[in-house]
Amino acid sequence: MQRKNFYITTPIYYPSGKPHMGHAYSSIIADVIARFKRLEGYDVHFLTGTDEHGLKIEREAKKNQKDTKTFCNELSKKFNELTKILNLTNDDFIRTTEKRHFKSVENLWSKLVSSGDIYLDKYKGWYSVSDEAYYDNDEIEEIDGIKVSKSSGSKVEWVEEESYFFKLSSWSEKLLDFYKTNPNFILPLSRKNEVIKFVQKGLNDLSVSRTSFSWGIPVPKNQKHVIYVWLDALTNYLSALDYPDTSSKLYKKFWPADIHIIGKDILRFHAIYWPAFLMAANIPLPKRVYGHGWILSNEKKMSKSIGNILDPIEIIKDYGIDQLRYYLLKEVSLGNDGNISLDNLKKCINNDLANNYGNLCQRVFSFIKKNCENKLPKSKIKPSMVENKLTGKIKDELKNLIDLVNNQDLNNYIKKVIEYSFDANKFFNDSEPWSLKKTDSVKMNSILNTIVVQIKNISILLLPIIPASANKVLDMINYENEFRSISHIRKDNNFNYDKELGEIEILFKKVE
Ligand code: ME8
Ligand code: MG
Repeated sequence: MQRKNFYITTPIYYPSGKPHMGHAYSSIIADVIARFKRLEGYDVHFLTGTDEHGLKIEREAKKNQKDTKTFCNELSKKFNELTKILNLTNDDFIRTTEKRHFKSVENLWSKLVSSGDIYLDKYKGWYSVSDEAYYDNDEIEEIDGIKVSKSSGSKVEWVEEESYFFKLSSWSEKLLDFYKTNPNFILPLSRKNEVIKFVQKGLNDLSVSRTSFSWGIPVPKNQKHVIYVWLDALTNYLSALDYPDTSSKLYKKFWPADIHIIGKDILRFHAIYWPAFLMAANIPLPKRVYGHGWILSNEKKMSKSIGNILDPIEIIKDYGIDQLRYYLLKEVSLGNDGNISLDNLKKCINNDLANNYGNLCQRVFSFIKKNCENKLPKSKIKPSMVENKLTGKIKDELKNLIDLVNNQDLNNYIKKVIEYSFDANKFFNDSEPWSLKKTDSVKMNSILNTIVVQIKNISILLLPIIPASANKVLDMINYENEFRSISHIRKDNNFNYDKELGEIEILFKKVE
């Protein structure tokens, strides 16, 4: 059977400062989906990387008194290290300063020139270096004498220079048609409506080159200009698949992308500019853009001046990566802004991980160690109705669980899975295997079998969220790697009864 392919991307990060919780959040979401698709049997290509051109990076490097390339190398490395710290399973890490990316952007540019979508003129208007975005007059306001973008609040400056333009205005209708015929292109739906409203107002042509600085990819045949950093950055999704070599294995296998995971602040670039560029260049469009919300700390956007920044690397050091992954995905509603705090993180670790899933595994394995010579006991009888009810639930709801992930409803997916764990704990309490040891060991073994099946299935479902811990649990019961997949949730006959259970470790320490 031919395996199906799945291409997923995170935003490529500006390496202008150290990685923060927003970066971690975007990455973790994408990693959970990538891991889940692999468990479902897909060939997955998961891309992340760094977005290194533009005025913002150039200025940041100057501020740090570093040569721009050196600055990028150092910071890009930090982001690459972050992928390890977050336990990401990215297949590639692209940097926009790489040769493969230059080639790809130059080619896309030339295509837009030949299709007649690019012309030379002069740009006069507002620009935010922090957002690397152009704003119309009606999109800015003055606060304390400073002109800022209404949507992002970042400072804008007046720009007047020769510039190439992309004929975005001529793509409004086609974009609206595309949104209509592909109703799930932009998710969540609230984001889609926002985009449609914006496009319906009519789009202006977009300035796609700059002449007042040089840190970028030069415009082919006019080296006075560098290509606008967003046209440059978006193309990374193609560069990583060997574009413009459309006969390459990667391109053929993975383009068009199945999903771009992004934050809501960069929706316009992904849901309007990117499809317009691609349509103009006659390249198939990605299937979905998912715009997640903002992570807030104590109800506010994280900022240095408020002092409410939660540093992902510090938190991981103190609490663990699985703990952070679990918390962010369970407690922050994916499409909306969500508040995070150390108090809630601790509560979540204690309630869901230590007292629920962790406790379940530990008490069951300790019981088996003490009472069954540390080997999974075989059952000689058919499971009871109560036992079937427990293990049947996941199997009955499996399709629904898969749909939840495929609709990016990760919060409800996790809530369901942790509920199974809660039910399993209750089953273990209610069926009191300890009271059966002397009186009915046949029944006791049946109960233990049932609970181990349930732990196996819950752990498979948790693999995308808390990979290190769930793998540890499956290791403890000697459950083979090749059986760690969604399809094995329906198969309960792959246990090893001869080997002793592995060392029982504390999975999640309770925190004060
Ligand atoms: O935008 N909460 O890079 P970036 C949630 N280089 N998400 C947040 C966040 C927060 N508090 N702060 C930032 C860029 N993010 C471009 C992308 S893609 C071709 C180019 C998210 O480093 C933000 O929404 O500024 C974005 O998705 C990601 O972090 C990277 O932000
Ligand atoms: Mg940003």
